[in-house]
Amino acid sequence: MRGKHVLIGVTGGIAAYKVGTLIRELVKSGAEVKVMMTEAGARFVSPLTFSALSKNPVLTDLWSSNQSSDSDISTQHIDLANWADVLVIAPASANTIAKLACGISDNLLTIVSLATSRPVILAPTMDAEMYLHEVTQKNLATLSERGYFIVPPAEGELASGLKGPGRLPEIKILTDTIENILTHADRDLIKKRILVTAGPTYEAIDPVRFIGNRSSGKMGFAIARAAAQRGAEVTLIAGPVALETPRNVKRIDVESAQEMLSAVLRYSKKTDAVIMAAAVADFTPAHPAKQKIKKQPGVHSLDLPLKATPDILAALGCSKRNTILAGFALETTDGLSGAKEKLRKKNIDLIVLNSFNKQNRVFGSHENTVTIIDKRGDVERLPKLPKFEVANKILDKIRDLL
Ligand code: CTP
Repeated sequence: MRGKHVLIGVTGGIAAYKVGTLIRELVKSGAEVKVMMTEAGARFVSPLTFSALSKNPVLTDLWSSNQSSDSDISTQHIDLANWADVLVIAPASANTIAKLACGISDNLLTIVSLATSRPVILAPTMDAEMYLHEVTQKNLATLSERGYFIVPPAEGELASGLKGPGRLPEIKILTDTIENILTHADRDLIKKRILVTAGPTYEAIDPVRFIGNRSSGKMGFAIARAAAQRGAEVTLIAGPVALETPRNVKRIDVESAQEMLSAVLRYSKKTDAVIMAAAVADFTPAHPAKQKIKKQPGVHSLDLPLKATPDILAALGCSKRNTILAGFALETTDGLSGAKEKLRKKNIDLIVLNSFNKQNRVFGSHENTVTIIDKRGDVERLPKLPKFEVANKILDKIRDLL
């Protein structure tokens, strides 16, 4: 952690008193620590305590200019956002989580969170009922999709006397998470050009109907977001999905497999790696109707001739030179050998096998259980992880191959 800049945001919660230990551990491991507190946070612990432990002024007020010696009042939030290598919000209250989820920035902590492009770690800490409430869970899911790292609270006795999830995790868990994330925040993909595809494709039956699939696009978007955070120049070719474009990512929207092929061929010319996370339809209606197909009286069935779509990954594999190619496989039977066969047949460097079973819903979920197989035959089985962490594991492999 030597020389790393850790910015800690403290919101209102009884667990604020434990942040002192976190600061001490971080300082001991060589990090430089700055603390900012919300007004509610500063009611639980005096800023003076954290200032003494971090050996830096503690920032509480957006409008006060004398807190940080070398910053002007109008730019101190930007200076702080740029100073940080990582932002850790602990304890993160339900209120601050809700504000972050919808972009409200009405105090220094929420403004800096919005202004930073560095990784943000959240340690939600509150009463169990508040933590488990649908709206808090929905806000956390939104933030997790946006690339925030959520460290789940520990279970146990809470300040209210109730038992359940809501306690600040052990300090060791927080410091391990910070260290782990900082190793991925080294911008190790700087100057690398990475093309990612995501989401389903829609194959038109007529102007209003289509053949599609259940892909949500979350895995591909997580890869694009993680790669951009690690410094890569990212182009994301997205099928029809309702997801926010990650920061610093160039997004091209397409609909059909044919459109995706054209976009991939156009944008993959000068790329270092192509990651095909899209669930491209294998078949498309052979003769899409120009007008909406009407029901005919007395007709009880419809024949819909289909033709195969172009295999984009195989096409890239055919003309492969120095670009690293990665694909995904979703198998319901004999996963490993099917994925290895796909890797060989499509002439690619890496394949990510999605486990498709009752325990791993894959589609629409924030988490995924995958196995990464490379062309040397190395097989890495990962436990169930948030898709953003899976994305970083895949990018670790790509970086090693580049
Ligand atoms: N893929 C592609 N173009 C297609 C179909 C798939 O580029 N027309 C890519 C996907 O993005 C994925 C990989 O190929 O990265 C594997 O897709 P999958 O559908 O599992 O494999 P298929 O080769 O289509 O074989 P099957 O459907 O028989 O399992």
